[in-house]
Order: sequence, then C-alpha cells, then structure tokens
Amino acid sequence: MLDEPRSDFSRLRERAGLSVEALAPLMGYSPATLYRWERGEAMPRQAALVVLEDLVNKRGATEPEKPAFRFIDLFAGIGGIRRGFEPLGGKCVFTSEWDRFAKTTYAANFPHDDHEISGDITKTEAKDIPEHDLLLAGFPCQPFSIAGVSKKNALGRAHGFADETQGTLFFDVARIISEHRPKAFLLENVKNLVNHDKGRTFEVIMRTLRDLGYHVPTPRVVNAKGYVPQHRERILIAGFREECDFSFDDLDVPSPLKGPKLGTILHPEDGTEKGPDKHYTDAKGRVSDKYTLTDHLWRYLQDYAAKHRAAGNGFGFGLVGRGDAARTLSARYYKDGSEILIDRGEGQNPRRLTPRECARLMGFDKPGESKFIIPVSDTQAYKQFGNSVAVPVIEAVARHMLPYIAAEAAQDQEHLQRRLPLVG
Ligand SMILES: C[S@@+](CC[C@H](N)C(=O)[O-])C[C@H]1O[C@@H](n2cnc3c(N)ncnc32)[C@H](O)[C@@H]1O
Repeated sequence: MLDEPRSDFSRLRERAGLSVEALAPLMGYSPATLYRWERGEAMPRQAALVVLEDLVNKRGATEPEKPAFRFIDLFAGIGGIRRGFEPLGGKCVFTSEWDRFAKTTYAANFPHDDHEISGDITKTEAKDIPEHDLLLAGFPCQPFSIAGVSKKNALGRAHGFADETQGTLFFDVARIISEHRPKAFLLENVKNLVNHDKGRTFEVIMRTLRDLGYHVPTPRVVNAKGYVPQHRERILIAGFREECDFSFDDLDVPSPLKGPKLGTILHPEDGTEKGPDKHYTDAKGRVSDKYTLTDHLWRYLQDYAAKHRAAGNGFGFGLVGRGDAARTLSARYYKDGSEILIDRGEGQNPRRLTPRECARLMGFDKPGESKFIIPVSDTQAYKQFGNSVAVPVIEAVARHMLPYIAAEAAQDQEHLQRRLPLVG
C-alpha cells in the first residue's frame, strides 16, 4: 500500500512533535478538522499555522540536549516561575497544579513536557516525585494553627517541621524538600507574608527551612515596576543545601521610578499591530468594545469611589493612561476591573485591559508580542495572570541563583567522578 501524500500541515505538526489529538485542543479546533488539514482536504487557517510554527520554534528553544539542572514546578499556575529558569538550561521534570483551567493554559504553553501535570499536591507522595536539583513554588499562604501544635506535643508525637506546618500547603513544600533535598529552592509569595498572622507564619516558614538544614539568606521583596509598568511587590525566599555566599542584597533590580510605562504594553490601536488577536482586537488592531465599561458599571465605580473619598478611606478605581504604571493586577480583576482602568479620553467610558495586555503586563509576552497562548475564557485568563508572577523578576532572580545551582551541580559531578573508579 502506498503512503498517503503528506500535507505541509502534517509535516509541520510532526516537527512540533505532537499528535493530532494533542494539538487539537492547543489550537482550539476539533481533531476531525485537523485530520482534514492533514490529508490536504481543506486549507488550514492562517492563525492555526502561526500557532503551529510557534510550537515548532518553542520545541527547538526549550529542549536543551543535556539539562544544566532539573527542576520541579509546584503550585505551578500558568508556569510564570518556570519561565524564569527554563531558558537557563533547566528541565522541568514534575509539575503540580490542580486548577483545570490553569492546567489548560500551562499545557498549551509547555506542550513538549514528557510528564502529565499532577493534581493536588497534598495527595502526592514525595517519593513519587522525580529527583531534582531545584524546587520552585509560589505557594498559597495560610496561617499555622498553634492549637494543633501544642496538642501534638502533649501527646508526645515526633517533633520537627510536621508539627507546626501540618495541614498547610507550606507543609507540602517542606516535606518534598525534606525527602529530596534539592540543591536549591525558590519560594515566592505576597509581600504581606511577613505580616501574616502577626508575623508567625513567616517565622515558622523561615525556622522550618533552616531546621531542614538549608542555608536561607534574608529574603527580599522585589517590586516588578522596574521591569513592567505595574506596581507588584512580591517576597522571594531562596534556599541552598550547602552554605554559600548567595545574597539578595547584590541582586540588581531596576528602579521602580525608571520603569516602563503602560504605552509599551497596551494595544497601540493605530494599525501598527497585526490583528485580529482572538476576540481582543479586530483586524485593524483596535480593542474590542466588550472591554469598555458599561455606563452602569462606570457610574457605580465613580459613586463608590466618591463615597469612600468622603469617608476618608480607600482610593477607589485606578484610572491610568499610556504614560502611567498600573496598580497590582489581582486575581479578582475579572469582577469589575476597577484596579486598572484604561482612560479613553474625555467623555468616553474607560476600558479594562485585554487578556493579551495582561500577558504583557506580567512579562509573559514582551511589548508588542502576542506569543503566549491564552486558551481559556477572559475570566479565567484574568484570574491566572492575577495569580501569577512578573516573569522578568523571576528571570533576574534565576540568573542570580544560577551560579550557585551550577556550582553545586559541578560539586556533585566531582563526587560522582571520584566514586566512579571505586564502583568500576
Ligand atoms: C499563587 S498561585 C501560583 C501561580 C504561579 N506561580 C504562576 O506563575 O502562575 C497558586 C496556585 O496553586 C494552586 N493550588 C492551590 N492548592 C493546590 C493544591 N493543593 N495542589 C495543587 N495546586 C494547588 C492554585 O490553583 C494556584 O494556581
């Protein structure tokens, strides 16, 4: 039997290393449609070909032959922390995320992983997680219950990190570190982690990590505003298995006063941007009307702000233009968008950011770029970006940590080589 002639689409798909079934959800088409393109019975959509070419390029860019280090991505969301480390030659060997919409976005943007996304981390045995050099986690923070601790102590149960942190998601981070003893870890959280539960949460976290035998330099709060036009302060906690002179003090963070402005990430709407981008912009690159606030919502937000101003509290909505920076994008942006409203000029209702603008505001796409795949609804996209990290901050931290991870990896190699003749 003769082989069926293959279409350009089919060849490109094979270069992307994806089956029709795996590719279909990433492109938003049914497998049946893709099979028609495969057989050359119908012409593939131009937008679909752009996505496919991007996947082929990404495959080339993200598959280092021999990874410099192996890492795991916990509470992975849409993989913002991963994006800082992977380009440095890291290979992600395990991902945990339980939200199905976040998983969809993650899978669309990291389609070549050789592992499935694992679900609830509290149900995952540490021994089932592969060995790794680096653990990454932007874990949700919860208070630690003192009552639970004293009861356990009274019963004479084992001491250690489990006592104080059991029942929290940080406990799961600690037990995985304890089991695998990676060379390093990076934990990320909101700035307010330090004050959470009157400082107790932070104290327990630091003590637990140090009790696990890790060198944990003073954490640092970094404002992303030097990198992206958004005030976003997050705390970063790094730890190293071996004593080392890593310090966050010499991490060079650009001044928030000199950061880029919103004009760099907004759709230009002057015809210079190629459109349409999903339902965000039209063929001429103009932002869809659906992002403009209704008269009713705009009136409500103004009245609400006036009421609070009169009472002397809160600062209501955040109206900004191309020359400004935005407030922190939060996971609740989908509700009314009030924290970042784009001014559309006198007499016009403001609009929300489009999800593409959020991708740029968080550094997932560079200014003017539209590469990040957003396969979910606007509501889910806003939640995902609001929960995530400013990628350029993590990129800077990753570069700062790399020599220490690499130095340790080299030490391990030396140990291995010294042991080899004995083994042989
Ligand atoms: C603050 S977000 C982290 C976002 C991530 N750093 C990023 O770049 O997108 C926390 C994530 O943890 C996930 N999560 C919470 N509890 C979880 C659990 N028990 N198992 C797995 N994932 C969980 C949430 O769905 C959420 O996506």
